[in-house]
Amino acid sequence: MTILVTGGAGFIGSNFVLDWLAQSDEKVVNIDALTYAGNLDNLRSLEGNANHVFVRADIGDKQRVAALLAEHQPRAILNFAAESHVDRSILGPGEFIQTNIVGTFNLLEAARAYWGALEGEAKAAFRFLHVSTDEVYGSLEPDAPAFTEQHRYEPNSPYSASKAASDHLVRAYHHTYGMPVLTTNCSNNYGPYHFPEKLIPLVIHNALSGKALPIYGDGQQIRDWLYVKDHCSAIRRVLEAGVLGETYNVGGWNEKANLDVVHTLCAILDELQPRSDAQSYKTQITFVKDRPGHDKRYAIDASKLERELGWKPAETFETGIRKTVQWYLANADWVQNVTSGNYRNWVEKQYA
Ligand code: NAD
Ligand code: DAU
Repeated sequence: MTILVTGGAGFIGSNFVLDWLAQSDEKVVNIDALTYAGNLDNLRSLEGNANHVFVRADIGDKQRVAALLAEHQPRAILNFAAESHVDRSILGPGEFIQTNIVGTFNLLEAARAYWGALEGEAKAAFRFLHVSTDEVYGSLEPDAPAFTEQHRYEPNSPYSASKAASDHLVRAYHHTYGMPVLTTNCSNNYGPYHFPEKLIPLVIHNALSGKALPIYGDGQQIRDWLYVKDHCSAIRRVLEAGVLGETYNVGGWNEKANLDVVHTLCAILDELQPRSDAQSYKTQITFVKDRPGHDKRYAIDASKLERELGWKPAETFETGIRKTVQWYLANADWVQNVTSGNYRNWVEKQYA
């Protein structure tokens, strides 16, 4: 048995592949275009593992994906591949349209042809699981209830609009062609291998490098944080028991204002790696210009997933954030490789 994962060299995809292979003998074919966000260092511990097959490929390359499906005959496709950073989508939306919309469309087309040709049990067992985000629902007022699966789609950034479009395509392939799809919409993840352009790893890295900790606007925007391994366990559970055509919200009931998250990170760093001048890392906090169209608040109601599939996160924000800081302190060379750009050199050599 084999599963095919896309985007498995990125933050969540690599955590998913590592967790999967730690718990199962089932082979993973990992296809990733290795954009700036794809980092094979994340998968280094899998070197020599015959159950992990890495292929550099673009999800938008339908012929290539079709050939890989024919060769490996996976029982499921899990689509993590995407352009994922909101600020980059504001600076240059083109790649987001290309990968998140056109890429997902091409992947769906290849999957539809592959699934259409399957027979019997293999056809009945096949799944296409699309990994999406809570950002498709837009922004919540301070006292509004958390997003349920029924919340209307109101994406506000080019990133979230492109993810919303991909969700609609996935839904349409179920409705029109009967394709066996599942969609998950998750809140903000944090944990190991998080690229230091996103708030939590950026703040840890900048703090330790003596740089400013940039807070957009007043820092009162709210995000709902989930430890990445809990997202991975939710995806495994939805793959195993999700009802075809359904969407599942994934979240940890951990709403926090950005400034509070940064204060927490500073307090943990003050304890685990105090500054040489004994001042708090908080003194590095700097308020900067706000993100255009900045969503004020996200909050996920994950009760459907808990009630129907019995999933629960293992970490609280307090345990997960401490583990995360400890991971970054213990893996300074991973961070150094990413921030220096060295992780790209190996990719360029390998695929020259
Ligand atoms: P990431 O940016 O860290 O990783 C994306 C991966 O996809 C990279 O390895 C990249 O090389 C690869 N990729 C990009 N374009 C590709 C293409 N055309 N073909 C093949 N591979 C390509 O992203 P992430 O944070 O790990 O997010 C993974 C998925 O989860 C995304 O779909 C994202 O929308 C979703 N999501 C992320 C979060 C979060 O907090 N990070 C929360 C909810 C949902
Ligand atoms: O909600 C899920 C989404 O979470 C995912 O779909 C996205 O792929 C993922 O990138 C993330 O989006 P956000 O925009 O919420 O994450 P980011 O880490 O970029 O920012 C978190 C919050 O922190 C947001 O309100 C913006 C703010 N911020 C971010 C950065 C990078 C700052 O104040 N300063 C910063 O330097």
